[in-house]
Parts: sequence; C-alpha cells; structure tokens
Amino acid sequence: VKRSDKIRWGILATGGIAGKFAEDLRHVPDAEAVAVGSRTRESAEAFAGRHGIPRAYGSYEELVRDPDVDIVYVASIHPAHAEHVLLCLEAGKAVLNEKPFTVNAGEAERLIRTARGRGLFLMEAMWTRYLPAIRKVREWIADGRIGEVRSMNAAFGFCAPHDPDGRLLNPHKAGGALLDVGIYPVSFASMVFGRQPERIAARARIGETGVDEHNAMLFSYPGGRTATLQSAVRLQLDNHCDIYGTKGKIHIPQFWMAREAVLETSSGETERFAYDGPRTGYAFEAEEAGRCLREGLTESPDMPLDETLAIMRTMDEIRRQWGLVYPFER
Ligand SMILES: NC(=O)c1ccc[n+]([C@@H]2O[C@H](COP(=O)([O-])OP(=O)(O)OC[C@H]3O[C@@H](n4cnc5c(N)ncnc54)[C@H](OP(=O)(O)O)[C@@H]3O)[C@@H](O)[C@H]2O)c1
Repeated sequence: VKRSDKIRWGILATGGIAGKFAEDLRHVPDAEAVAVGSRTRESAEAFAGRHGIPRAYGSYEELVRDPDVDIVYVASIHPAHAEHVLLCLEAGKAVLNEKPFTVNAGEAERLIRTARGRGLFLMEAMWTRYLPAIRKVREWIADGRIGEVRSMNAAFGFCAPHDPDGRLLNPHKAGGALLDVGIYPVSFASMVFGRQPERIAARARIGETGVDEHNAMLFSYPGGRTATLQSAVRLQLDNHCDIYGTKGKIHIPQFWMAREAVLETSSGETERFAYDGPRTGYAFEAEEAGRCLREGLTESPDMPLDETLAIMRTMDEIRRQWGLVYPFER
C-alpha cells in the first residue's frame, strides 16, 4: 500500500457488526469497502446492495483471492475467527479481526505466529482503544491528572432474550458473557494498568446452556491496586467505568463505545470531553489500520499483538476458574 493510496477493504461475513462497520467506514475519507464475502451468495449480494459495495462473493475463499483487497475485516462468530484469519493470512492479506480475537490463547498464538512469519498486518478490532474519548482518558492518566491509578471498576451487561441456539448462549458458538462483552472490561483494565493482573478471582452464573450468563471478576496488581469487573448477557448492568487515582477520578459512561469522559480532580477541577461527530465508532479503528498499512507497520502500537495474546491468557484463566470449556475445545 502506498501512502497516497485508498485502503481497499474486504468484509468477511454479513452479520450485525459487519453492517455497522461497513456504514461507519463511509466516514473514513481514504478508505472504501470494495468487496464482501459470505457463506451464501444471496447474503453477500444483499449486503453489497445495502452498503453500496461493488463486488459480492458467495464464499470467503473467493473474497480473500480478490487481488484488489488490501485488508480483510473478519466479522464472523468467535469460534470461526481463527479459521477465517488464517484463510486471509494464507492468501497474503492484512487483517482486522473482531473481538474476542479468538476463543482461547492457543488459537491467538497460532494467528500471531502466522502473521509475523509472513510479515502481514494483523490487529484485534478492539475499537474502544481508538475512540477519541478513550484517547483523552489515556492522556489524562499519562499526564498524572488523577495521580497514581489505584482502582477501577467497569461493567458491560445487557439482557438478551433467552435463545439457546443464538451465538450469545450456545456453547458450540463459544457463547457466554465473558467472550462476548467481558472482553471489554478485561481489555480496558489491561489498558489502564498496562499489564495483566497478578491474581484473579472470578465467579459466574453458568446457565442451563452451560455458558456464563453473568460474571464478576476481581483483578489484583502489585501495590494492592485492584480492578472490579462485570459482564452479562442475561442481566442489564449499570454500564460504565470509573477509574480512581490518588488525585482524582475519571467517569466514562458506556465505556466500550465511549463518546464522553469526565475528569474530576480532588482539587475541585472538572473537565468533560465529548465527541459529537457523525462516526459511530468503528471508523477510528479502520483509520488506524489504514495508517499502519501506509506506514508499513504490521501491528498497531495501541493494541499490540503481545497484549492481545496476554489478554487471551487472562480470559483463559478466568474460564479455567469456572471450569468452562467449550465442546470444540475438548
Ligand atoms: N465491535 C463490536 O462492537 C461488535 C459488536 C457485535 C459483535 N462483535 C463481534 O463480531 C462477531 C460477529 O458478531 P455479530 O453480532 O455480527 O454476529 P451475527 O450477526 O450472528 O453474524 C455473524 C456472521 O458470522 C458468519 N458466520 C461464519 N460462520 C458461521 C457459523 N458457523 N455460524 C453462524 N455464522 C457464521 C455469518 O456470515 P455469513 O452468513 O455472511 O457467512 C454471520 O452473519 C463476534 O465475534 C462478535 O464478538 C463486535
């Protein structure tokens, strides 16, 4: 990819998030979706029609063979990420892969090894990291505005209808709150503390389909620092994040899709940051992937692959504490 080139995206899968991504990509001036691939031609064509994408393929294999695609956005269900990312990498394509990166750390290692071995760009689509409000939060923390961070809490949970076959509750689709939404607080804690916890205590309600319907996690770090995290797919939670430091605190409503953040220092200062532009959030990660491709980077410094892998190891440890093993992992 040359510096002046438009980044030509291929979209792999035509589900809910693929559509949202395709819409937000319109807000990235130097990027365009040129092709979409689906397991069925009908779905690919309908998606292409809805989003104004010129080429529609009835298989993922055809999509990754398209020479005009610079980077593939993988938006299939979690247990399919590993296979689909490998398909792209083996075809020589750069990849932006949806969260959770994979189901477990073993799969993540394989993808990372393959991308590095081939010198190809690979990034976890942890879009939260690239949101302007979250960049501002990182800046506040780095500038010492709240002093030393000692504690944080974060929750992301909603009550989905009880659908045992759907991807949220079906163990064959790696269902459960942790992988679907728990990844956000876990990744957020990794960003705030810049490391994985030293100790983890995690509990969950395992529902009748055998996956975690809601969970609570206590992470401990050196120096007695702590993070209390929750996630749920069958329980509406109070979805926000608070970060507490020795000189103040930061409040982020709906932190995973943050449009605003509020800083309050113990000396009485208050500062509010808000993004009120037209982007829904996915354009920022797409822009970062494009920047990396143009600059010849194979990883994004804001979401490096070593951190993605470390987070997947943390996720594995949490599931180990619950004895939650997916049927295809046995
Ligand atoms: N970043 C975010 O905000 C966000 C939001 C929601 C979801 N996600 C992530 O994105 C991924 C997809 O979620 P979604 O909500 O878009 O799910 P979805 O609506 O169920 O769509 C999933 C898509 O995966 C493809 N797929 C491939 N193999 C499949 C299989 N064996 N069974 C079912 N579908 C299969 C299908 O595409 P085709 O039929 O076209 O082949 C399907 O449309 C998940 O990993 C999820 O964690 C991210």
